[in-house]
Amino acid sequence: MKKIEVIIRPEKLEILKKILAKNDYSGLTVMSAMGCGHQKGFGSGEFQKLNLEMNLLPKLYVMTVVWDEDLEGILTEIVEKLSTGNVGDGKVFVSQMEDVVRIRTGERGEKIL
Ligand SMILES: Nc1ncnc2c1ncn2[C@@H]1O[C@H](COP(=O)(O)OP(=O)(O)OP(=O)(O)O)[C@@H](O)[C@H]1O
Ligand SMILES: [Mg+2]
Repeated sequence: MKKIEVIIRPEKLEILKKILAKNDYSGLTVMSAMGCGHQKGFGSGEFQKLNLEMNLLPKLYVMTVVWDEDLEGILTEIVEKLSTGNVGDGKVFVSQMEDVVRIRTGERGEKIL
């Protein structure tokens, strides 16, 4: 299993939900976030040169866990459908997920995703 943490423009949430639903995933966690990337939250390279402090912008943080075999397809679709071509589109962080437990039943492992 892989955990994907997707940081997106808030208006892109519905598209991301559609991508996950289409791939048969129904579980996800969404949090409001503030953040910045290479541009330190400013739109243009000029601001970076001035070495200004970081300007945090509103983003959404979406966490979901997927089967290994679905990872590449989902990443491809995220890039295809969420890229605007402008800075600030976000990032996807991928990591290994060791285990998952359904609290109601105690079941474990990737079958319960
Ligand atoms: N290295 C990072 N670690 C944690 N969060 C990050 C990192 N880089 C970006 N983020 C998160 O992703 C959001 C969007 O980042 P952003 O798309 O601006 O990244 P970028 O690397 O500057 O790419 P781009 O040049 O396309 O803007 C940030 O507001 C922040 O929440
Ligand atoms: Mg950026």
